[in-house]
Amino acid sequence: MEIKYSVIVAVILVPWLKVEGAPQRICFPKHFMFGVGTAAYQIEGAWNVSGKGESIWDHYTHYHPERIFDHSSADVAADSYHQLREDVRLLVELGVQHYRFSISWPRILPMGLSNDVNEDGIRYYGALIDELLAHNIEPMVTMYHFDLPQSLQDLGGWTNPIIADYFLDYARVVFDHFGDRVKVWFTFNEPLSFCHDGYGGLDAPGANSSGFEAYLCGHNVLRAHGYTYRLYQQNYSHLQRGVVGIVLDFAWCEPATTYEGDQRAAEAARQFRFGWFAHPIFSSEGDYPPIMRERIDEISRRQHFPRSRLPTFTAEEVTLIRGSSDFLGLNHYTTYLIAQGNGKIYPQPSFKTDMGVVVTQNQEWPKANSSWLRVVPWGFRRALNYIRQKYNNPPVLVTENGISLERSNRDVRRVGYLASYLSAMYAAMSDGCDVRGYTYWSFIDTFEWTSGFSERFGLYDVDYSSASRKRTPRLSASYFSKLARTRCLPDSWN
Ligand SMILES: *[C@@H]1O[C@H](CO)[C@@H](O)[C@H](O)[C@H]1NC(C)=O
Ligand SMILES: *[C@@H]1O[C@H](CO)[C@@H](O)[C@H](O)[C@H]1NC(C)=O
Ligand SMILES: *[C@@H]1O[C@H](CO)[C@@H](O)[C@H](O)[C@H]1NC(C)=O
Ligand SMILES: *[C@@H]1O[C@H](CO)[C@@H](O)[C@H](O)[C@H]1NC(C)=O
Repeated sequence: MEIKYSVIVAVILVPWLKVEGAPQRICFPKHFMFGVGTAAYQIEGAWNVSGKGESIWDHYTHYHPERIFDHSSADVAADSYHQLREDVRLLVELGVQHYRFSISWPRILPMGLSNDVNEDGIRYYGALIDELLAHNIEPMVTMYHFDLPQSLQDLGGWTNPIIADYFLDYARVVFDHFGDRVKVWFTFNEPLSFCHDGYGGLDAPGANSSGFEAYLCGHNVLRAHGYTYRLYQQNYSHLQRGVVGIVLDFAWCEPATTYEGDQRAAEAARQFRFGWFAHPIFSSEGDYPPIMRERIDEISRRQHFPRSRLPTFTAEEVTLIRGSSDFLGLNHYTTYLIAQGNGKIYPQPSFKTDMGVVVTQNQEWPKANSSWLRVVPWGFRRALNYIRQKYNNPPVLVTENGISLERSNRDVRRVGYLASYLSAMYAAMSDGCDVRGYTYWSFIDTFEWTSGFSERFGLYDVDYSSASRKRTPRLSASYFSKLARTRCLPDSWN
C-alpha cells in the first residue's frame, strides 16, 4: 500500500518541483512544529451527556435542520468524547508535535456562568490533555470555537457587552484547571467567521444582521480577548509560563486587475476582513482600521443613524487590546479577487456595502468540495508577507490550512494541496516571515457547520454509518506523518 501510494505522490509532486525550479529538498527548521486541528462541536458528539449544557450549535441544528446542507447535527459526529484514546493513538501514529483542539464552554459551564462547574467536563479535557502529554504531544487549546452556551445567547450572546465579563470568568476556570499543563492558548477562533456569518448571516445563532449585530459581536469579542490576555499576564503567566494568542482567518485578497481602483479595493477588503481584528491587536496604533472607521461612520450617517453602526472603544480599551497577543494564529485556505464596488449605498445596513468591493474567484483555480475554497498556494505566501510588513513581523502559528474533497482515501489532491501550500509557506519564511508552526485542518473528518457532513477535510476518514465511527487513514495521513517526523517535505520519488 505504502509503495503504491509513494508512486502516486511522486507523480503529483515531481512536475510541481520542476515548475518551482527547486532542486533541493525543502526542510523546515529544527524546532518547527507540525500538528493537526479539530474543534469540540465538530467532533465530540455527546451533546447532552454528563451535565453538558446546550450550545448555540446544538440549538440551531435542532431547530433549523433545513439550514444545514444535509439536515444533520453533530449530536454524535465522530464521537470523540468516547474515542479519546483512539484519537490520541492516531495522533501518535501521525507523529505530530502538537494537537489543536477546543474546549466546549457549555461542557465546562452548562449555563455559561462559573457558579456551576461541570466536573465531568473538567475530567474529560483533563484526561485528553494528560493522554497527549503522556505521548509527548503538545496540547494547544482554543477556548472558544463557535459553541456559545445557549443560555448566554438568550441574553444576546456576543452582542451583549456583559459577555466579556462572562468570558473572563470562563477563562479563569479554564486556566485554573488546565493551565498547569496547557502552555499554548487561543482565546477565539475566527471572530470574522462567527461575527460576520453567525450574527451577520445564517450560521448559528443566525441573527442575519449584517453591518449591525456583526459589529457589536466583533467589539465584544475584542474586549473579551483583551481582558483575558491581561488576566493571564497579571495572574497566571508567572506561574504557568504559557502563551496566549488569537486565531484570525485571512483569505488573501488580490486585486482583480492592475487598475488603481481595484488595488485600493483589495486593500479595503484586507482591512475589513482581516484588519477588523488584526489592527486593534497587532498594529502599533491599535483601534479599528481607519478605513473601517471612516467608511462605516460616513455610511451610517447617510443612512440616518444617529451614531455609527461600528461601536467605539474607550481610550482604556484601545490600550487594553493593543499588543494583547503573544503570537498570531493564522487560518488560511484560499484567495479572492477584489474589484471596486459601484459605490451605491442602500438603506439596509450591510457589511458588503460598508466594505464597498466586489469579491470573486478565478474560475480556473482548482475547486475543492467547499464552494468558497479554490487552490491558490501563492496567496498563502502573499498573506504571510502582508502580515510581516503590516504588523511588524509577529510570530505566526498557522492554526488551520487544508482542503475539502469528496470522500475517498486515495486523496491525491489533498497531498498536492499540502505540498504546494507548504512550499509557499517555506518561500514566505525565506522572505523573512516568522512562522513557528503549521497545523493541518482537519485531523479527522468533522461536522462542517452548515455544510453538515458533506465536506471532508480529514487526514482520516470517519465512517459515520458505523457505530464506532471508524477512522481510516487516507493517503494524506501517511504523507503528513512523514512530514511531521522529518520536518521535510517527503520526497518519496527518491
Ligand atoms: C440526548 O440526545 C439524544 C438524541 O441525540 C436523545 O435520544 C437522548 O434521549 C438525550 N438524552 C438525554 C439524557 O436527554
Ligand atoms: C436574511 O437577510 C436577508 C437580507 O436582509 C433576507 O433577504 C433573508 O430573507 C434573511 N433570511 C432569513 C432566513 O431570515
Ligand atoms: C488578579 O488577582 C487579583 C487577586 O486575586 C485580583 O485582585 C485581580 O483583579 C486579578 N486580575 C485580573 C485581571 O483579574
Ligand atoms: C461536495 O460534495 C457533496 C457530496 O458529494 C456534494 O453533494 C456537493 O455538491 C459538493 N459541493 C461542492 C461545492 O462541490
